[in-house]
Amino acid sequence: MPTPPKHSRDNIYASQQLDIAGFRFDQTVVSVFPDMIKRSVPGYETIIAMTGTLAERYVQPNTRCYDLGCSLGASTIAMRHHIQHTGDDNSCETGSETGCEIIAVDNSEAMLQQCQTVLQQDDLNSPEKLAPVTLVCSNVEDIPIVNASMVVLNFTLQFIPLEQRTQLLQKIADGLLPGGVLVLSEKVAFNDPQHQALMIELHHNFKRANGYSDLEISQKRTALEDVLIPETLETHRQRLRQSGFSSVDVWFQCFNFASLIALK
Ligand SMILES: C[S@@+](CC[C@H](N)C(=O)[O-])C[C@H]1O[C@@H](n2cnc3c(N)ncnc32)[C@H](O)[C@@H]1O
Repeated sequence: MPTPPKHSRDNIYASQQLDIAGFRFDQTVVSVFPDMIKRSVPGYETIIAMTGTLAERYVQPNTRCYDLGCSLGASTIAMRHHIQHTGDDNSCETGSETGCEIIAVDNSEAMLQQCQTVLQQDDLNSPEKLAPVTLVCSNVEDIPIVNASMVVLNFTLQFIPLEQRTQLLQKIADGLLPGGVLVLSEKVAFNDPQHQALMIELHHNFKRANGYSDLEISQKRTALEDVLIPETLETHRQRLRQSGFSSVDVWFQCFNFASLIALK
């Protein structure tokens, strides 16, 4: 399969479609994914950059980091460039010297294939030896989490069936070491209908300002219905606490997109 161009513009929903299929992370989406996510998710680039900062703070030597629903590896790359450990003698270990590894999981073969190319490029561009990454093609519900100091669920939980979300978070909490962190980013919903309507309107304005037409916005919304199920921040907080996280709260929010930190 040929490597898709890196930064193609997302025009998947630009022309009228008679029958709008449910959204899937297939080859068509993969080829425009970096452009799509940047123009659709307010704060995406900030969240990715801060994932690196959080990795610097929380990743412990000789542990694993997990990027669940890794897509093209943006969070993985942010983590691997910031993993470091300062020894007792003040020496600074980076990358592979720390004994850390990253497990990046996605159930879209097309995504993982392109992710591998992106990571190979990242290796070539880096002067130092970065922490190794293992790519796993699987449902995140099916993989074990062990010896973890950092887990990232960056806009992935929203695609997991509602009835499986608690079990997944419980597994993550169980697999995290004391002092470990989960970064959970999601599109969120609000109980107050007026606020919900306002957040949707502001999000659509954001997309319009980024060049999406009303037709594109409306057709993408239809494609995501029943595929992306947002929940309220209160539901997320409660579920995280019940799963065994001791400290849970939002560190970033823009309109109906938020990211939480949950500490073991
Ligand atoms: C919005 S994208 C995530 C973006 C990515 N984390 C980032 O920061 O760039 C959601 C990803 O989750 C993957 N995904 C959805 N459901 C999944 C599941 N049950 N198991 C594994 N991957 C899943 C999709 O294939 C897609 O690549």
